[in-house]
Amino acid sequence: MSSDLMLEKMAGDRALIERKMEEILPGPEQRPASLHEAMRYSALGGGKRFRGILCLQAHRIFGDPHTGDAIAAAAAIEFLHAYTLIHDDLPALDDDDTRRGRPSCHIRFDEASALLAGDALQALAFETLSACSGANPEDVTLSVWMLASAAGSKLLVGGQAADIEGEGHDPEPGLVEFIHLRKTAELISVSLRIGAALASAGMEEIELIGDVGRDAGLAFQIIDDLLDVEGSEEMVGKGLRKDMKKGKITWPSSYGIESSRETAVRLIDGANEKVKSLGDDGYLEFLFRLVVDRTS
Ligand code: IPE
Ligand code: IPE
Ligand code: MG
Ligand code: MG
Ligand code: MG
Repeated sequence: MSSDLMLEKMAGDRALIERKMEEILPGPEQRPASLHEAMRYSALGGGKRFRGILCLQAHRIFGDPHTGDAIAAAAAIEFLHAYTLIHDDLPALDDDDTRRGRPSCHIRFDEASALLAGDALQALAFETLSACSGANPEDVTLSVWMLASAAGSKLLVGGQAADIEGEGHDPEPGLVEFIHLRKTAELISVSLRIGAALASAGMEEIELIGDVGRDAGLAFQIIDDLLDVEGSEEMVGKGLRKDMKKGKITWPSSYGIESSRETAVRLIDGANEKVKSLGDDGYLEFLFRLVVDRTS
């Protein structure tokens, strides 16, 4: 498949996921209207839908024709991701005023609304995933368990806690890996694992695609750190040059810019090598390559 066709496929997947999210999110007319408005603002306002697309592709790789569940699962993952971004931008965490080219949720609304919209999006993610009625119930239970553990205190939220605690401290060996594997890589890994699980892949296959996703996810956060140093605010759609000001433990602050890019490329090369044995048609490989080539 040519890269134009891959980009078209990505745009198609993005549209499928966004249509589903739009359908599931309570309408702005439903009470409490302001809460639903804030949830819709943050969940629907742009974003690459990278994690949702990974879920769709993992589901395709393992050959389940019931795509409806994979689309709902992708929407669930994007709801959870949207919650993490809303909370990440709050003054108590990264204190960022811009997200996806628009005011962050707490700037557009207020802090209470942003906290609550994040809480409600997280709950909506689990409500949506657990309602995947076309899939085998055991596969759904496994998916819900995997998402819950990836999102919890030992992984995503734990990574966020370590990221905040690390502010202003000197990088120490292993700390940035600890943070990045948790705050970012695990959600990317579990997006693939859920797609695979809902297609009734075996445990070994689920683990393998999850490991590949963790490597790609680590590269994803390394590139995010590099974009903060070298990217264009206009293209990235969020405030940049903030990590250093806040004294964040990042990959470039720990290992330098050049080595960071090399590590990201090496992780993606390795992930793409492993992807071949999974029966990918080239699309997952393309998506992973975009992790290092992206400018937004
Ligand atoms: C931003 O994720 C948060 C990180 C983990 C770096 P994305 O770069 O995927 O954000 P959107 O969803 O495309 O806005
Ligand atoms: C975000 O990491 C990770 C999560 C939201 C879980 P960053 O704080 O680096 O993400 P950006 O740069 O604000 O998007
Ligand atoms: Mg952060
Ligand atoms: Mg942030
Ligand atoms: Mg960042």
